[in-house]
Amino acid sequence: MAISDAYTQSFIQPRSALLMEMEQFAKENYVPIMQLPAIEILLQLLRIQNPKTILEIGSAICYSAIRMAETLPQAKIVTIERDDTRIEQAKQFLSRSTVKENIVLLEGDALEVDVESNYPSFDAVFIDAAKGQYKKFFEKYSPLVKKGGILYIDNMYMHGLSNLDIKEVPKRKRTMIRNLHQFAEWIIENPDYQSSFFPVGDGLLICIKR
Ligand SMILES: C[S@@+](CC[C@H](N)C(=O)[O-])C[C@H]1O[C@@H](n2cnc3c(N)ncnc32)[C@H](O)[C@@H]1O
Repeated sequence: MAISDAYTQSFIQPRSALLMEMEQFAKENYVPIMQLPAIEILLQLLRIQNPKTILEIGSAICYSAIRMAETLPQAKIVTIERDDTRIEQAKQFLSRSTVKENIVLLEGDALEVDVESNYPSFDAVFIDAAKGQYKKFFEKYSPLVKKGGILYIDNMYMHGLSNLDIKEVPKRKRTMIRNLHQFAEWIIENPDYQSSFFPVGDGLLICIKR
């Protein structure tokens, strides 16, 4: 859901000049950073949870990583990105950020990179990468989440495609949407997690590890 009116917009918190520049850059360069109403909710949930260690899968230009680091100055954030162009852009923005010391950018495919040797556990994991791979990301990284820790998963609507009848989904996207449906069914029935769906932004799923 886009910000549709001045009233809704009035709840969006002011951001630093750097963050506003990143939002403009993302818009002009088609970088899919998290939508403002959804990131407001994510950040508020993180304030409540107060994690000390966060893993993010899908950094893009490090917009959400910088926002999380600014919101939780005590937290260490490890973020993974595989796209070389975005990694370079992320490094540029990070170098100008006041919270760069709290963010570690790991380069490579999140399904291949070795995170656990250096970072064996996390209080929170934020999954915001290739949508057809969500179950694989979950399987790889949920063991690193501490008991009582939380996985935050964005884009569960997949830009409005996942709540369509599958016949209405463009053919080339059907496998990805089927994978997302299977993941949604699997996680909601998974007794090891208390999961709850927030229909905000592009759909945010919150899974608390029991
Ligand atoms: C939606 S964007 C991330 C936006 C960012 N979290 C934000 O809100 O500022 C998704 C990013 O995930 C990256 N990505 C997709 N699959 C990945 C994978 N398997 N490993 C690492 N990065 C991946 C893409 O290159 C893309 O930059």
